[in-house]
Amino acid sequence: MSGSLSKSDQSFMRQFSWLIAGLAVLTVLLITLGWMIYNHEPKETNPVAAKQLAARIAPVGAVYSGNTGRAAIAAAAEAAAKAAAAQVAYGGTTDGKTIYENLCHSCHTAGVAGAPKLGDKAAWAPRLAQGMATLIKHATEGYHGPDGNFMPPKGGNPALTDAQVKAAVTWITDQAK
Ligand code: HEC
Repeated sequence: MSGSLSKSDQSFMRQFSWLIAGLAVLTVLLITLGWMIYNHEPKETNPVAAKQLAARIAPVGAVYSGNTGRAAIAAAAEAAAKAAAAQVAYGGTTDGKTIYENLCHSCHTAGVAGAPKLGDKAAWAPRLAQGMATLIKHATEGYHGPDGNFMPPKGGNPALTDAQVKAAVTWITDQAK
């Protein structure tokens, strides 16, 4: 029996060889397919490295809004300046005491720079004798006294309205009557 195979063994060996050959071809096919898929997929990247790169190449001043944005900013600034200029002093109050305490107080309470002190009848009497119209005019337009002292126009706040100056002068003079 040795050296020769029976017919059925020969047939088995042939089929088995075909099977092995088929499996070998399938293996090569699968390897090729795997390789193709691997090449087709995007390469993996390190998310931390990507973040670091983005941070490194980011511009220094983050947002530049362009000339349009610049014009808008300028317009807004101008509008704000206008609004501030139009702002009425001390909320537009015509309460003489409030205006005095916010403004006139700085000179008239202590008699700074030769200002007649609040409630000082002797200092105010000759001024009151001029009449309210004159006092209001002096307080509005500014006044250089005979002693060289100076009452600034509207107490130094041009935002005061005439009515506010009048109210403040009325309140000041009332304290000296
Ligand atoms: C920077 C200091 C200062 C401030 C602030 C000031 N005054 Fe005077 N004021 C003076 C001086 C100084 C005189 C005296 C001028 C003079 O006659 O020599 C004076 C005088 C006056 C007189 C008298 C004017 C006259 O004809 O005799 C009135 C009224 C007056 N001030 C009202 C006011 C009112 C109202 C305010 C606030 C809105 C005010 N002052 C804020 C300094 C100031």
